[in-house]
Amino acid sequence: MRHDHETSTAQKREHADPSEINRPIPIIVILLALALFVWAIFYIVIRRPSDNPAFGDNRARSELMAATAGGSGGRVDGAQVFAANCIACHQANAMGLPGVFPPLALSQRATAKATLPISIVLHGISGKLTTSSGVFNGSMPTFKAKLSDAEIAAVLTHVRTNFGNAAGPVSAAEVKAVRDQTKDRTTPWTGDDELAKIKQ
Ligand code: HEC
Repeated sequence: MRHDHETSTAQKREHADPSEINRPIPIIVILLALALFVWAIFYIVIRRPSDNPAFGDNRARSELMAATAGGSGGRVDGAQVFAANCIACHQANAMGLPGVFPPLALSQRATAKATLPISIVLHGISGKLTTSSGVFNGSMPTFKAKLSDAEIAAVLTHVRTNFGNAAGPVSAAEVKAVRDQTKDRTTPWTGDDELAKIKQ
């Protein structure tokens, strides 16, 4: 019995073993979280913060729509269109390849009245082509299905204002006009003779 007595004295000196109490999340915290959630949804739906051009690259929604619709409002990067569609043949420095691809640098046709280079990019050329860098007889593909009016305008503006060229810019409206006028054409221009007939 003496032993039992000692144990109980020791037990009295100890604190009770800790135990977990199940405390529910206070209702006010749940309500606050709900309120925050509802506010966030309303903010997105009603304020439409994603429409704010300042959160992007400052292009308004209307500009982006115009760009995808092939209008003139979007800022298409002519250098990028050139890199993706022209340098395989005309080379990054626009000097072409002697005897195979004519240079666009200092090209009389590239810097002529816009109708001519637009016609070339829209339908391509296949046949004898006389340039100041020699006579070519290759074939350039059509881009009428591949590039929009805005893209053709941008790439020609890039070509006409770089590589030593100093001709005026080309607008998407000009491209559209030539596209409409030549919409029945299904074959490339045949070279010198046909290109000479394009009104300049
Ligand atoms: C697959 C090769 C190829 C690609 C890609 C190409 N071209 Fe051509 N391009 C040619 C060839 C070849 C000629 C000469 C055609 C001939 O000999 O009949 C030419 C001719 C031209 C001419 C006339 C040059 C002159 O001085 O008479 C222009 C302008 C032109 N290309 C612009 C472009 C532009 C802009 C692009 C890109 C959108 C482009 N080309 C993409 C092969 C190409």
